[in-house]
Amino acid sequence: MSSFSNEPAVGGYQELELPFFYAIAAREMIKTNSARSAIKLVLSSAEARKIWLPAYTCDAVVEAVNDVGVTIEFYKVNSSFDVDPELQLKAGEFILTVDYFGLCGEAVNRSRSRFGHNKMIVDCSQAYFAKPVESLATIYSPRKFFGLPDGGLLYSKDPRIKQPSKRDESSESRMAHLISRLTNSPEKAYQQYIEAEQAISNLPVQGMSFLTERLLQSVDYKRARTTRARNALYLHERLGQYNKLNLEIDETVAPLCYPFLPSVETASKAALISQRIFIPTYWPEVLERVEEGSFEWDLVTNGLFLPCDQRYNEDDMDRLISLLAIN
Ligand SMILES: Cc1ncc(COP(=O)(O)O)c(C=O)c1O
Repeated sequence: MSSFSNEPAVGGYQELELPFFYAIAAREMIKTNSARSAIKLVLSSAEARKIWLPAYTCDAVVEAVNDVGVTIEFYKVNSSFDVDPELQLKAGEFILTVDYFGLCGEAVNRSRSRFGHNKMIVDCSQAYFAKPVESLATIYSPRKFFGLPDGGLLYSKDPRIKQPSKRDESSESRMAHLISRLTNSPEKAYQQYIEAEQAISNLPVQGMSFLTERLLQSVDYKRARTTRARNALYLHERLGQYNKLNLEIDETVAPLCYPFLPSVETASKAALISQRIFIPTYWPEVLERVEEGSFEWDLVTNGLFLPCDQRYNEDDMDRLISLLAIN
């Protein structure tokens, strides 16, 4: 009996029926259980001692770097998301730059030519659709773009950085909010979402689970890309004139959200939430690292990160715009 146990199963009951699109981008990547794990893997493999992080980033990244015992210094970005011109890397130091909202590829390129490819980790957690660029590593967090329980992707040509041998096996315990969201309101399983996110911060560095990998293969990547691009462009054409951020938006970008830093009075975030427009704050913890009145402070305090993802169409974007109540 046991001699048959590794043979492929034929028959039996049916599994959840998922399409198979295959996310092309994921093919030649190292697959991890989170972007944080990917960052830890890169830093340990490169035996980094010190890294410069943008003050404008989330604590998840800061904690990941602390976990692997690498010293952190913070740098500022200007309103074009360029790295502080004063910053110079010393021998043995690394820098992480973020492609914010999936709209800062040009700023990342400017940093790469300034600091050199092999010193730089490019954090595309907010830029799933940005191609990997020549660097020590480019990392992704597909969960920010699609309904997935966890997962990270890492592209690198550095032979020291290797696929973790053990896969995560805990993804099933982070599915409840995703299933609930199919039929219920976002409010219903919000607590389960928070718990799932907390569980991710405690995961060891491991490979992507089979479940997450299969779910990622079922994403209609092209449709998601086209819809995000169209929605972002639609918002930009109507809100760009009121936006203090100087954004380059055309049909080639498919951002995380439309970042709107209004130069005019708009409905407040609280007013929008009362209309069930759920807008994240990127990132409250940044206020502890930056000066009041700085660009980063303004973005955290007054930025409205408007949803423009593949669930929505132009009617939804029109509703958003009208609820902003710009006179
Ligand atoms: C810019 C950035 N990098 C990295 C991460 C970490 O991603 P993950 O939650 O997949 O570890 C996040 C979010 O938490 C992020 O916003």
